[in-house]
Amino acid sequence: MAEHEVPSLIRLVEIAVSDAITRAVPEVAGADPVVRRSEHADFQSNAALGLAKRTRTRPAELATTVAESLNADPGSSVADASISGPGFLNLTLAEPALWRQVIARLASPRLGVGSPEQGRRTVVDYSGPNIAKEMHVGHLRTTIIGDCLVRVLGFLGADVIRQNHLGDWGTQFGMLIQYLDEHPDARWHHDQLGASTSTVSALDDLYRAARAAFDADPAFAERARARVVALQAGDPDTIACWKEIVAESKFAFWEIYRRLGVLLEPEDSDGESFYNSMLPDVVDELAADGIAVESHGALVMFSEEVTGPDGNPVTLMVRKQDGGYGYDTTDLATIRYRIRDLKADRILYVVDSRQSLHFRLVFEAARRAGWLTDGIEATHVSYGTVLGPDGRPFKTRSGGTVKLMELLDAAVDQAKASVSEKTQELTPEDLTQIAEQAGIGAVKYADLSTSRTKDYVFDVDRMVSFNGNTGVYLQYAHTRICSILRKAGNAEIDVDPALPLHPTERALILAADAFADVLAEVGRDLEPHRLCGQLYELAKAFTDFYEACPVLAAPGPVRANRIALCQLSARTLRQGLTLLGIAAPERM
Ligand code: ARG
Repeated sequence: MAEHEVPSLIRLVEIAVSDAITRAVPEVAGADPVVRRSEHADFQSNAALGLAKRTRTRPAELATTVAESLNADPGSSVADASISGPGFLNLTLAEPALWRQVIARLASPRLGVGSPEQGRRTVVDYSGPNIAKEMHVGHLRTTIIGDCLVRVLGFLGADVIRQNHLGDWGTQFGMLIQYLDEHPDARWHHDQLGASTSTVSALDDLYRAARAAFDADPAFAERARARVVALQAGDPDTIACWKEIVAESKFAFWEIYRRLGVLLEPEDSDGESFYNSMLPDVVDELAADGIAVESHGALVMFSEEVTGPDGNPVTLMVRKQDGGYGYDTTDLATIRYRIRDLKADRILYVVDSRQSLHFRLVFEAARRAGWLTDGIEATHVSYGTVLGPDGRPFKTRSGGTVKLMELLDAAVDQAKASVSEKTQELTPEDLTQIAEQAGIGAVKYADLSTSRTKDYVFDVDRMVSFNGNTGVYLQYAHTRICSILRKAGNAEIDVDPALPLHPTERALILAADAFADVLAEVGRDLEPHRLCGQLYELAKAFTDFYEACPVLAAPGPVRANRIALCQLSARTLRQGLTLLGIAAPERM
């Protein structure tokens, strides 16, 4: 167990019930206590229903024996066990045990969260926009989800390696380099731009212009193709221009990353071109092992696991007919590098669900080649499409790709309107800053709170609402608690575990306590929406508590205990928002 880990309440109950089963019914010692949250009590145990068969008793009888054993133990954290239905055990925690939990979590800088991912080397592949193509709304999802996973896994102790698999190689460069060659006065470089134009949009414009020329003018298209050949052959002028475009695109991507506040750094970029020199060797290795075989002049892997609609095995392209390498080959080199050189224990690919077949085949190849062994996990963390308000893939009115910066601007504008409606006390500078935090937070939260594999509708109005399961609601809940704590002064609090609990206080403690287990679950199952759900439940529980229980006006010891509940709620919300990559301002 790591330094500051505080076992969760549900864990304490599991231990108590498990001990009681062992004492009362030794034949089934060590059985799973099957403890869940309950509507009728704090928790319930459903163990008796399954165990009764083994002990040849009725479930209610068995449950009664276990309940008697639990109730006979005065030191237990369970104050009351009672039978309900055919043999459920309703379990109510002792009030001092709940208060002691508050004390223990507050005493820990990490709120008693353990480190279940300790030392696990985890490569997270996310963002991966394509240079010389536009960064589109799909890249927003991988960037946001990937950033959240990096934060959560890192917090849980994993040794995280961020990998931005930039699409920095490929045929699209021919078109751009040729266009720049023929239009030396094109303004695309960030030094040439006025303050009003961002590098992102200058590059988008350049891409559009080159694309238009390519589509309209066959002679240009021909010259662009010749450029691709020159690039692959390493022609110095062409390479120099390629490097400049890559550098400029990175500059542009980082405008977006900085605005989003994601952890990616330039040195996390190992783009497709990084693997170029490894490709021939990877191909040779797969051919020597008989995994890649000749087919119509190309080298392919025939899948042993996946068949296509025609009943034939699906193929993975290892080397094209013309001897060239593509996206598939690069990913083969990439997975080998991550296992052999980066020594990954776990590799996560946060990529659009439309690439799921691609990753199945890459993982199969890696297993067959002996790179991906049983102790190593490779997972495609797939996600659904971003839809527009009309329920179709998100496009501008003219059908073009939506510019990311414009999308973020729209969210921030809406957030500004929302926030200024709610409070009039902010200075214009504060309002601008808070609107930025709320708008960006809203976009991220909307993305993270939907189950990852589902499509989701990008609806700015709903995202910035102060009501419902939104980022703004959580940020606002946090600011309200901060304001109570400011008024309370920053004194150290002594919690008295002997005080009785109001039902809303009890519910709040249980809601806050779930944080640690939910984080561990996110680390395992890679589903950030669970963390969003837990924080939302916590914020609601706080609202109920605050409506029912005065804090600052309460008498001495009650006041202290309630301030402690405010502290625990605020710190849990703040830590949770931080792990989602969302700012937690103190005023709003
Ligand atoms: N550049 C790719 C795209 O935009 C994503 C890269 C994902 N990572 C990988 N190893 N293939 O679709």
